[in-house]
Amino acid sequence: MNILLIGSGGREHALAWKIAQSPLLQTLFIAPGNGGMTELGTLTDLNTSDHQAVINFVQANNIELVVVGPEAPLVAGLVDDLETAGIKAFGPKQAAAALEGSKGFTKDICKDYNIPTARYGRFDTLEAAKAYAEQQGAPLVVKADGLAAGKGVIMAQTIQEALTAIEDCFSGSFGQAGAEVVIEETLYGPEASFFVLTDGTNALPLATAQDHKRAFDGDKGPNTGGMGAYSPAPIMTDALIEQTMATIIAPTIKAMQDKGTPYKGVLYAGLMLTEEGPKLIEYNARFGDPECQVLMMRLASDLVPALLATANGTLDQLSLEWHKTPALTVVMATKGYPGGYEKGSQIKGLGKASAPENIEIFHAGTALENGAVLATGGRVLNITSRARTIQQAQAQAYQAIEKIDWPEGFYRTDIAWRALQET
Ligand code: AMP
Ligand code: GLY
Repeated sequence: MNILLIGSGGREHALAWKIAQSPLLQTLFIAPGNGGMTELGTLTDLNTSDHQAVINFVQANNIELVVVGPEAPLVAGLVDDLETAGIKAFGPKQAAAALEGSKGFTKDICKDYNIPTARYGRFDTLEAAKAYAEQQGAPLVVKADGLAAGKGVIMAQTIQEALTAIEDCFSGSFGQAGAEVVIEETLYGPEASFFVLTDGTNALPLATAQDHKRAFDGDKGPNTGGMGAYSPAPIMTDALIEQTMATIIAPTIKAMQDKGTPYKGVLYAGLMLTEEGPKLIEYNARFGDPECQVLMMRLASDLVPALLATANGTLDQLSLEWHKTPALTVVMATKGYPGGYEKGSQIKGLGKASAPENIEIFHAGTALENGAVLATGGRVLNITSRARTIQQAQAQAYQAIEKIDWPEGFYRTDIAWRALQET
């Protein structure tokens, strides 16, 4: 079958790499893709915010499945429009993607279905939000309600910081995303990412993974989209997985059914593993990036039947096999990220670096120009490896990085430190 994959990040490169291995695949189209994906499929600069253009492209190319990588097209209702046109898609419809698109929506579900999460208030006026913050006292977490590209969460240590953050939100710092504000108590504990495939009724947990959100070694520096990841995450024990499925995932799936807007796709729960058990920090309506890269590296089964079963509502008939061996990915980013950075520097040595078996280099922000690989984004490369132990996977990934000649790039040198401590 022909498949269209939407997105251009490391997550989509990993998905494309895995989809391209499927015996079910005839042609993979990727919109827009990046410089690393040219050999896996046909790249197209289709404007994916023009839903009719996507429908026309799908029909013209006999595409039987559309896989949506990032959240923005989901929240914009691309899957709704595809399904109305009779086209099968992997990803939730707009009303279900609100689990990521509106933090207040998710918090209200938590309240109504008794799902463990941080205590919170939800406000659409400045005065009420400030009054609540003052009544609760610091520390507090202030969140813009909508999608704010990962920047809409302020961890306020003092009441003054909280009030400033609230004022920033309402004065438009996060655009429309900040028109409503969620204020939460601060939770403590290690964080974990937890992924399930769900077809609206059945849920199939994926292998566990953990990312590294801070820019620099030792979990220092500003928050980023993720500087590296590993799988499995020893911290997510079988008992914790079971507890998370029962207390967080199952009631969420039930809630979305009850609302008449079942959630289909990959559901990504950001968890805080508190002393009182796992609590939900947030949902995402997509795979984590870079968690997806390590999950795809460890997935032994064909991905395409899993995507189809999710879209078709037949996940109860599917099981997934995983390589027992751990995987790890190190993100190489342009110096300056997550702040400002220069675009267009050249990266050399990728052929040598990716030569060893069990090393895959997934591109995120790259473009190919006259045969040269240029850095075009903040997060640029994902050096991904799988080995018998996490120690070996880590050593292998850093050996590969040494072969990459890119003075304008940087990376963390301690990816998987927590897993190494625990093994
Ligand atoms: P979010 O975008 O909601 O995932 O928040 C981004 C990051 O902020 C999370 O990964 C946590 O590190 C942190 N965070 C969000 N909410 C809380 C909370 N209630 N308590 C502690 N940390 C939080
Ligand atoms: N790695 C975190 C995210 O994808 O949101």
